[in-house]
Amino acid sequence: MSNEAKVIIDEKEYRYPIIVGTEGERAIDAMNLRKDTGCITYDDGYGNTGSCKSDVTFIDGELGILRHRGYPIEQLAENSSFLETAYLVIYGELPTGDDYAKFRARINSNANMHEGMKNIFSAFPPGAHPMAVLSALMNTVGCYYPELATNDRHKDVQMFDWAAALLLSKVRTIAALTYRHLKGKPWVYSRPNYRYTENFLHMMFSDPYNDYVPRSEIADALDLIFLLHADHEQNCSTSTVRMVASSGANLFASVAAGVCALWGPLHGGANMAVIRMLEDIHNTGDDGTCFIENAKNGKQRLMGFGHRVYRNFDPRSRILGKAAERIFDKIGVQDPLLDIARRIEEVALKDDYFISRKLYPNVDFYSGIILRAIGIPVEFFTVMFSIGRMPGWIANWYEIAIQPRQKIHRPRQIYTGKNARDYVQMDQRG
Ligand code: CMC
Repeated sequence: MSNEAKVIIDEKEYRYPIIVGTEGERAIDAMNLRKDTGCITYDDGYGNTGSCKSDVTFIDGELGILRHRGYPIEQLAENSSFLETAYLVIYGELPTGDDYAKFRARINSNANMHEGMKNIFSAFPPGAHPMAVLSALMNTVGCYYPELATNDRHKDVQMFDWAAALLLSKVRTIAALTYRHLKGKPWVYSRPNYRYTENFLHMMFSDPYNDYVPRSEIADALDLIFLLHADHEQNCSTSTVRMVASSGANLFASVAAGVCALWGPLHGGANMAVIRMLEDIHNTGDDGTCFIENAKNGKQRLMGFGHRVYRNFDPRSRILGKAAERIFDKIGVQDPLLDIARRIEEVALKDDYFISRKLYPNVDFYSGIILRAIGIPVEFFTVMFSIGRMPGWIANWYEIAIQPRQKIHRPRQIYTGKNARDYVQMDQRG
């Protein structure tokens, strides 16, 4: 196989090295292209652009493979917790002994918020979208820990272990307290004896005189959802985090931007959109057949289907699809939306429109149905995705932060506006 690419422009030939990843992925190294030729590459939507080298996550979209630091997602989902997977994604190894104990202790000791944050919560109107609150508060938290968010790269990297654990902890508390604020309920404080997801459910749903005792099957289902979202290589929000980080911005500012990118319905917002879609289908008495016809005619998108990278099953969706039945049985819930989802999946997977475009269920297809079953309000679904994705954002920020000669990310463009014109002042035109 050639290790060089030839580019011919105006009959002149240029040669560029082909670089190969550890799983055999190949890329033309175009770092000198513009300097040599005056041309840039054009790749609207970045579908063919490798924006970085990364050690964190590997995806083979054709084969439906997802691995974090070399471990298959199926294995992690079977044997590990969300926090263990978070540790793996951030530090590169599954946790053992003292280091993990320290990591968990830092998460536990940082669970509660500075009371000053109450004033900030109270400024948000009752109808505020939880993702808007979350992104604003991710940055605000940094203001309470100025030693962790200095924008001095050297100092921010030195404090990374603290900042990473603090963010994993605070994102969960902010999510729970946002719910309470929007419902007009008082704050509930964390319980150090609870697991990560138990504590989240307690902070979200307990009342001062009425403890919500988290059921282990509900805490486990939420843990699985967080774990399956832990990282997903250079998706829109993670690329955003890296982009912001490349300017030298601290971890808090960078993940706040990631939350904003995740909010959109084509990215993390799809889990909400799936439920809205299934509810609409249910309310109109359709079993999914009419909706599929509309999706094929371009009138609607089948939310929770399709992926920029997977041209085969999203392995996370397979895991959740199988888990859904088990979770529903364990918690004793029945939901007609699950039947509609199953029917849509069955019909779409046999339909030439979806087959020829390689459109399969993605992670959002079943995650929303499970979140609904365990009592998470639909407007908080994307917030749940944000909690899950935090390890990936943190790990990708760190990769940028420790590069010795990190360049600011600054793509080029092809200008298609008006040509140069003489500037005629308004008053001269009379
Ligand atoms: N329903 C119906 N048709 C679709 C769908 C869909 N969900 N997704 C893609 N297509 C069609 C699209 O109309 C186009 O058809 P044609 O070639 O006839 O014009 C073709 O498939 C290619 O679509 P595309 O928009 O060019 O594909 P993309 O790779 O740019 O988009 C996507 C990927 C995820 C944005 C898209 O599949 C989509 O909008 N899916 C629904 C939203 C969704 O579920 N998003 C969650 C993604 S997974 C979670 C995450 O990582 O954020």
